Order: sequence, then C-alpha cells, then structure tokens
Amino acid sequence: MTDEHEITPWNVSDTFQEAQYERVATEFGAKIIDEPLKYEIKELAGDLHRFIQYGIFFAHRDLDLLLDGYRKGRKFYLYTGRGPSGKMHLGHLIPFIFTKWLQERFNVDLVIQITDDEKFIFRDSSREDLDRFTRENIVDILSLGFKPEKTHVLIDTKNSGLLYNYGIQVAKHITASTVKSVFGLKDSDNIGKFFFTSIQSVPAFIVSAITGHNVPCLIPYAIDQDPHFKISRDILPKLGYDKPASIISKFIPSLKGTGKMSSSDENSGIYLDDENRTIKKKLMKYAFSGGRDTMEEQRKFGANPDVDFAFNTYRMLEPDVATASKIYNEYKSGQILSGEMKMIAYEKIVDFFEALNSRRDSVSKNMEDYMFSPDRFL
Ligand code: TYM
Repeated sequence: MTDEHEITPWNVSDTFQEAQYERVATEFGAKIIDEPLKYEIKELAGDLHRFIQYGIFFAHRDLDLLLDGYRKGRKFYLYTGRGPSGKMHLGHLIPFIFTKWLQERFNVDLVIQITDDEKFIFRDSSREDLDRFTRENIVDILSLGFKPEKTHVLIDTKNSGLLYNYGIQVAKHITASTVKSVFGLKDSDNIGKFFFTSIQSVPAFIVSAITGHNVPCLIPYAIDQDPHFKISRDILPKLGYDKPASIISKFIPSLKGTGKMSSSDENSGIYLDDENRTIKKKLMKYAFSGGRDTMEEQRKFGANPDVDFAFNTYRMLEPDVATASKIYNEYKSGQILSGEMKMIAYEKIVDFFEALNSRRDSVSKNMEDYMFSPDRFL
C-alpha cells in the first residue's frame, strides 16, 4: 500500500523512488503505457516521443479511448499548467516539452493554466512576487516555442469570473472528506485549500463549456498532480462533460539523486536562469554520479548511467535517441569518464538555454497573443 499521502501536489516524500512509480500510479487508478498503446501513439503521431521511449511518461488515464476517438476524426485539446511559486527548473519543463510535441503532432489547441491563486493560498508569497513569477514563468514556458494561434494561457486571477462560475459547479460535488482523504488536508488548513481543486478542474472542460459540445481533453502532468484529476474524472460526467484523459510522467530527480527537483532548494536542480558557471559548478560539485570512485575503476567497470544526473539531463535534452544511446553505451562501458559526462551534459544544457533565450524577447513583446479568451474558441 501507498504510505499515506506519499504523493500529493504539495508534497512528495523524500523516500519516494523510481521503483515505486508503477505501484503508485496503479494504486491511483491509472494504467501503465503498454506496447499496443505505444504502437498506437506512434502510428498517429508519426513517431514516439523520447520521453515515452525512456519511460519518463509511463502511465495514463483513458489515453487509448481518446486516441480511438481521434482516429475516428474526434479532435481533442490539450491542457497543462504551472503554479508560479518561484523560478522554474528543468524538471518543470518536462510536461511542457512533451506537450509541445503533442500539440505539433496532433495539431491541437492547448490551454495552459497558471495557478497564481493556488500559490497564494498554499504559500506565504506576496501578490507582488506572484505577479512577477507569473510573468517570468509564462515567458519561460512560451519560449519553448509554442505557437500563439493554438496556445491559450489562462492566468487564474485574471480570469477569475470565468473560473469561479465554472468552479462552483465542480465544488458543489466535492465534499470536505473527499478533499481530506485525497490530498491529506486537515481541519486546521485554510478553506481556500479545500476549494482550490475545483479551479484546477475547470480547464479540463472549459472548451466544451464554451463551445457547447463535448471536446475531449488530454492532460499531461507529473504524477503529483494526479489526485486533482482523479477528482475531475469523478465529477465532470455529473456536469454532462466527458472524463478528461491524461498522460503521466515521473519526476526528474534532484541533482543529488533522490526526491524531486524543488523550487525551494537552489542546489536541488538546474534553474532556467542559472548562469553557465553556476550550471558547471552544480554539475561538478553536487550532481549525483553513477560513475566509479577512481578513473581506473571507471575504465574497468564503467558507470551506471541510469542513476546519473548528468546523463539523464543530457538525455532529456538530446532529441536524437540514437546519439543518446551511443553516449549511454560509452559511459556504461567506461569509455566516457564521469567528468566528461558532466561536460557533455553541460554543453547540452547551455545550448538548450541559448535557444530558449533567443525566443524570450519576441515572446515577451507578443504575450497578449497567447492569452486565453473564450472568443478564440468560437
Ligand atoms: P507545478 O508548477 O508544481 O509543476 C508544473 C508541472 O511540472 C511537473 N513537475 C515535474 N515534472 C518532472 N520532474 C519534476 N521534478 C517536476 N516537478 C514538477 C508537475 O507535475 C506539473 O505538471 N497545480 C499545478 C499547476 C497546474 C497543472 C494543471 C499542472 C494547473 N493545472 C494541469 C499540470 C496539469 C502546479 O502547481 O504545477
């Protein structure tokens, strides 16, 4: 059994490890992405994204049904999000890199919810800080290269009328005891925390609500967000909407190897605004290595790339699976040393950040073009 509230959107236990993902996802009621489903994704998308090949996106809810519909001509839309509690790190980009691929391959609309209200309720952040992080995080996300014509950024506090009116319909069907048992909330928690999940459900049916007909929704996220959508799936049919489908990822482990990269610990991950020398220092000094203690041992026995932060980060950012697999084999066999692996990862991260930075100005200038508005769906 899962330890009580081992994973919630606001807490991931430090003892949580790779081997536990499949168990937790299945206990939550999700299914593991199996070979026939991989085949189906590949058929419809043209190829299989590396995150699925590597088992980073590993579980789903009703993705098979959604793709079945798509095959028969039923277009869906994508929905994902970000809680702007601070600077973004590489782990936060996982769902967005993947979502961008889905958007391009299926040519569908995407709603990105920015839950600044959530971070106001759950953290001690001031409204000023939240506004700043909201803006910075949106620029970070959009700089991945999302297309404005199909991308709709929904900032909660800026769209409060719409979200509140739909949110209360969801809230009416959620009891305090459900929220307590799903999220581990206590009587002493503020009542905003109890209500918040209703707001995170709204974008899962907002396109259907606006257009007046059911449009299937697919939500990519890491497993910590699953409890919200377990609730959405129970309630949306009661409101006349389809259950949303989802595709679920693991966490990118922290620099130190276990736990998830966290916004509250600077040295737990690589942040998008880290300077080159900081990135190098973090990799050289803190990154968990799957290499051996000495060069001789490394040459003789090779490394364990699977647990190596530098290798995993490199692989996440390298679009060519064959090249990544060559590096994997060379590192594993001892041809590549740990320090060399760290430099390979360093160069990949720096290139990736340069590409992001090259798009920032244009995204900042044109931010209005990406903003959510109901008319854009009509
Ligand atoms: P947030 O801001 O905590 O996280 C943003 C997205 O990143 C995922 N994530 C990670 N993925 C891989 N490795 C990590 N170390 C890692 N840390 C976080 C999260 O699962 C999430 O997908 N309440 C949400 C915002 C939200 C949302 C959504 C997310 C609103 N609607 C719909 C996903 C789908 C939040 O605070 O996410």
